[in-house]
Amino acid sequence: MARDYIIHTPDEIARIRVAAAMAGKARDRIAEFVRPGMSTKELDMVAGEVIHSMGGKCAFLGYHGYPGNICISVNDEVVHGIGVPDRFILKGDIVSLDVGVEYEGGIGDTARTVYVGDGPVPSNVQKLLDVTREALEAGMNAALPGNYIRDISAAIEKVAKRNGIGVVRDFVGHGCGTKLHEPPEVPNYVTPRRGPLLQPGMVLAIEPMFNLGTYKVFVRPNRWTVCTCDGEYSAHFEHMVLITNEQPEVLTRA
Ligand code: MF3
Ligand code: CO
Ligand code: CO
Repeated sequence: MARDYIIHTPDEIARIRVAAAMAGKARDRIAEFVRPGMSTKELDMVAGEVIHSMGGKCAFLGYHGYPGNICISVNDEVVHGIGVPDRFILKGDIVSLDVGVEYEGGIGDTARTVYVGDGPVPSNVQKLLDVTREALEAGMNAALPGNYIRDISAAIEKVAKRNGIGVVRDFVGHGCGTKLHEPPEVPNYVTPRRGPLLQPGMVLAIEPMFNLGTYKVFVRPNRWTVCTCDGEYSAHFEHMVLITNEQPEVLTRA
């Protein structure tokens, strides 16, 4: 039977720590380059330069044939947006940046959504960003030894429900470390399965994808870009955590 979770060795954890820290740094550096008027392709090229300048490789490039350096998802795009030369980022947009770095056998995977522009953030957008971030923190706080995967899911979903937010169901968090996607899945909603027991040495990518409207999504004809069915805004925040004997270690903080 396929393993349903992975306990990483100390040597693997050392490599994962380095790659994840690089991904966290790259995510925030790339975010600083986002400005109105630039194409998503231009931003993707900048992201490639940032990641390479750190000595890393773009972990998403070529993954199942994915053509971009990172994922850039604008407004109603949920995840897996591809940088293209004819899509321009505009003032008032929200842009989700999902960054994967590979370095010496370790993988980092982390995401954040940024608001573009200097004016006041519209209150519905601010709420979406705040609630998604809060859910990620709640999920990470539940990443304790003795808990199950479903405890993380429940903590995330609770924040969404309390705020009337749509939780994407077709995409989930995951184990991560020496491959981009490892078992187990980490859903952002409660499922009938409690999933594996959390144990020290497990590394999880926890990543709520929250929508202002419906939870329902579809995939564009480019076979990658995931969008909300009602065209409402979507946000995505992702951190990797190492399960320890005590509080989880967040590997992708700035
Ligand atoms: N970063 C995504 C995740 O959080 C996966 C992107 S895979 C790609 O799991 F192929 F779309 F890049
Ligand atoms: Co990601
Ligand atoms: Co991920």
